[in-house]
Amino acid sequence: MNFSIARSSISSPIQHYLEELHREYAQVNDGTVATYIPELARADKRWFGICIATTDGHVYEVGDSRQLFTIQSISKPLVYGLVLEDHGEETVLNSVGVEPTGDAFNSISLDPQSGCPLNPMINAGAIAIAGLVKGTNAADKLHRILQTFSRYAGHEVAIDPMVYRSEKDTGHRNRAIGHMLRNFNVVADDPEPVLDLYFQQCSIAVDCRDMAVMAASLANGGINPITGLQAIKRDYVENVLSVMATCGMYDYAGEWIYKVGMPAKSGVGGGILAVLPGQLGIGVFSPALDTHGNSVRGLLVCRALSRDFNLHLFDVPGFSKSVIRSKYDATQIRSRRVRNEKEAAVLKESGARIKIYELQGEVTFTSAEVVVRDIMKSLDSMDFAIIDMKRVVTINPAAGKLLRDLVQSMTAQHVYPVFSHMDAHESFACELRTTVNPAGSGVSLIFSDNDFALEWCEDQLLTQKMRAYCPMGAVPFSEHQICRGFTMQQLACLQEYVRCVTFKAGDMVLRRGDQPDNIYFLMKGEVSATVRLPTGKLKRLSALSAGAIFGELAFIDQMPRSADVRADTDIECYTLSREDFDHLSESDPHLRAALLENLVRHISQMLRRISDEVTVLAQ
Ligand code: DON
Repeated sequence: MNFSIARSSISSPIQHYLEELHREYAQVNDGTVATYIPELARADKRWFGICIATTDGHVYEVGDSRQLFTIQSISKPLVYGLVLEDHGEETVLNSVGVEPTGDAFNSISLDPQSGCPLNPMINAGAIAIAGLVKGTNAADKLHRILQTFSRYAGHEVAIDPMVYRSEKDTGHRNRAIGHMLRNFNVVADDPEPVLDLYFQQCSIAVDCRDMAVMAASLANGGINPITGLQAIKRDYVENVLSVMATCGMYDYAGEWIYKVGMPAKSGVGGGILAVLPGQLGIGVFSPALDTHGNSVRGLLVCRALSRDFNLHLFDVPGFSKSVIRSKYDATQIRSRRVRNEKEAAVLKESGARIKIYELQGEVTFTSAEVVVRDIMKSLDSMDFAIIDMKRVVTINPAAGKLLRDLVQSMTAQHVYPVFSHMDAHESFACELRTTVNPAGSGVSLIFSDNDFALEWCEDQLLTQKMRAYCPMGAVPFSEHQICRGFTMQQLACLQEYVRCVTFKAGDMVLRRGDQPDNIYFLMKGEVSATVRLPTGKLKRLSALSAGAIFGELAFIDQMPRSADVRADTDIECYTLSREDFDHLSESDPHLRAALLENLVRHISQMLRRISDEVTVLAQ
């Protein structure tokens, strides 16, 4: 066996599939290259490229994926989007309808009732749309189109001057359409500059990869998945995809949506651009066309991809994943705040009144409805509901409204809604902040993570349940957990070996990686142990109050410190060095045994808690 082949040189199964597909359909020689624009006749019938771009920005490409060709009619949906941004839906609909015609792309027709072009994908509609592009002059209008296309493609695009000239010289039929539009006042002024702009937009040169990335930008809510730049406002993506789905393939549109099932647009340059919303974009290029003006191989490839990868829009998988990823309460998982025995007992007894809902995926009306139903059904058994949005990808407006209404219903029932991990959902967080603040005292009900959300809920619960709940400020040495079960004599003996140290709030007490020296018994104040995650974020491992032990792991195994410990308030600790522990052990083996027993109990409590949490989270 040869192990020397670099693994990276072995192609992915998807790449392999595309290569096979390319090989298979390269054999098809049906169709003819467009000749009605003389310059297009120069295309080589053998050119053939296939690209798929995902919404996370990966592009698969095979064949002539970098061969330039003119975008032609594929420019129509892109310019339509720009014009929607310029004027808004209503104004645009007043000029151009959205009804499929079943006619050829260059049919000379208007809606007999409205006198407007039937849709923006046929030439009449596209020319009317070109007439609506805003700009101070012809050059500015073209510049805006080029800029838009460049954002879609992820690089500067330009006009192919030969094709432009050729189309301008021979575009008599389009000229007829332009003048007809002028006659019916769909185009307000001289149609010639409008036609010129239309010829220019059709002559923009792209390659197959560009088309896939353009399609993926539409699939990705208008954001180019590679550059992160907005090609079109999200609000108008739906409009553009709708006309592509119904009219993008002209008189083949019905069969296309039936067999392929994706919004798409073809061009006489040989390109087909298809979009699977939310998932991917496809670009296929092969210049030989069928009688509808669609690329022969392009159609075959799209049909095969749709069939083999189940890409049809209406091939909706059953809801395999619930929006509620996991549901538990504060008896099962507690905050990182280490509680004393009394507090822990109260939380064990009443922690079920704090429920945690971890949500996931796309939150739409139907998935939000599941959350609303579940929470409303359990309102009687809870006082707090933490809604964790860490794994939520998007919240659509309908779901956002439903969740805000839920917040109000919960508040009316005196149940506190608490949200966590909202960084990726800033606009929803803003809406929530202005909707309601059930604490009514400026307390933020949005926390950076579940730990802080849980701590807040636990504190509220402890305040409700323990009349004199007040986090312990200081403990006498005799009550510290390390001294549990000690005789007076043992206590006095240990006291001789420990050293009192103090730190100010904000001081770093221990640093991850440091060599171990002492174990710390916290007598007064609070500290937090944290680690920095690979993402750069700080993660709190535990928050300790007076009576807690820290620095014990490195003290025992003599390995470097595993976390940073910082004083949250002014603190006072007793420390015991490893050397003094050894002296103490020699002089009083019983005290050593008692100390170790308390340490082991402390560590087993920590371990028990961790294994309980793992059990809950693994469900
Ligand atoms: O209007 C024309 O003739 C071309 N510039 C564009 C037509 C086109 O691409 C039709 N699509 N299949």
